[in-house]
Amino acid sequence: MTDVPVVTVDGPSGSGKGTLAALLAKHFGWHLLDSGALYRIVAAIALERGIDLSAAQALAQMARGLDIRFENGQVVVDGVDLTDRIRHEEVGEAASRVAACVPVREAILDSQHSMRKPPGLVADGRDMGTVVFPDATAKIYLEASAQVRAERRYKQLKNKGLSVSVHALLATIIQRDERDTRRAASPLRPAKDAIIIESTSMSIEKVLEVSIAIVEQGLAST
Ligand code: DC
Repeated sequence: MTDVPVVTVDGPSGSGKGTLAALLAKHFGWHLLDSGALYRIVAAIALERGIDLSAAQALAQMARGLDIRFENGQVVVDGVDLTDRIRHEEVGEAASRVAACVPVREAILDSQHSMRKPPGLVADGRDMGTVVFPDATAKIYLEASAQVRAERRYKQLKNKGLSVSVHALLATIIQRDERDTRRAASPLRPAKDAIIIESTSMSIEKVLEVSIAIVEQGLAST
């Protein structure tokens, strides 16, 4: 259904794209696709079932068989609530590895396209503007320095009562960026027609204001 508007929000881990996408979806009253959650689900189930994270075909076959539902902010897979599980660092690490497998990316393509429903969709991830929705109405690419992203993540985890060092988080972020940008399959990069927002020293309110203007401009020119 290509006449349904889509806004893509891509960027590296911790850039705030998930928060921005949720706020944009709320502002416009559109659906929300957190594509990273799909890779996290595949990773979590693979870890649970003991599937080798480099066994691309086995992972893709498993991904195709999953019944994934996003219900009221909950992530339910085959009837089991995985909302908290998929946010663990261990699952994030594994997700970055399964996301490098082409067959896995192909296996979840249809379910991503099926989220494009009226009145519109905000999709966040790494390849939303480049691969999954190349005809998007507006494409945003959110940047932030690795240091600021590590500090934001540190605050989030601290608020949850978890203890980690900024230094360790920074190392993980840099390593994940490397893997996400250097992989052959749908690497992390801005689409040619994406608008890049460098958010290192911007508040989320300002990022939202700029993004709403970008989307409105995109809607006006279609
Ligand atoms: O955004 P996130 O941290 O939840 O994403 C988890 C992993 O999935 C991350 O390492 C990159 C990968 N990913 C991807 O390759 N393509 C997407 N569209 C979304 C996420």
